[in-house]
Amino acid sequence: MAVERTYAMIKPDAVTNGHTGRILSIIQEHGFKIIGLKQKSISPAEAEAFYAVHRERPFYASLVTFMSEGPSVLLVLEREDAIKKWREAMGATNPANAADGTIRKLFAESIERNAAHGSDAPETAAQEIQFFFSASELL
Ligand code: CMP
Repeated sequence: MAVERTYAMIKPDAVTNGHTGRILSIIQEHGFKIIGLKQKSISPAEAEAFYAVHRERPFYASLVTFMSEGPSVLLVLEREDAIKKWREAMGATNPANAADGTIRKLFAESIERNAAHGSDAPETAAQEIQFFFSASELL
C-alpha cells in the first residue's frame, strides 16, 4: 500500500471544547506523520466553498455557520493508506454509529458537530490540501 496524504480538520466544536491535544495524540498513535498543521478561523466564504459539494443538502447553511463559528485545526497527514486509515480513526459521520474508541465516538456532539473531517478520496484530498495549504507550508 502506497504512502499517501490526506486532509484532516479538528472542527470548531472539538477545538472549543479543548480536545485538540488528545486528538493530535491519537493522530500520532495511529502512525500519521503531520506534514502540515495550523489553527485558523475559517470564514463563512471559505466554508461555503470548501463544502460546495453539499450546497443542495438541507444542512448546508447550518454546516457553514458551524464551521465558521470558531477556530479549526487544519492538518495534512501522511502514512500508508492515509485516507482510509484516517476515516477509520474518525469513525462514522454520525457519532451515534461510530465505533468505540474512534474520535467521533469520543468527542463528537452530533452528526453535524462531529469533531473531525477527513478527505474521502485521493482527488478530494489533493483539492482540500491545496484549498488551505500552500506548498511551502507542507514540511
Ligand atoms: P464532514 O466529514 O466534514 O463532511 C460533511 C459534513 O456535513 C459532515 O462531516 C458533517 O459535519 C455534516 N453533515 C453530514 N451529514 C449531515 C446531516 N445529515 N445533518 C447535519 N450535518 C451533516
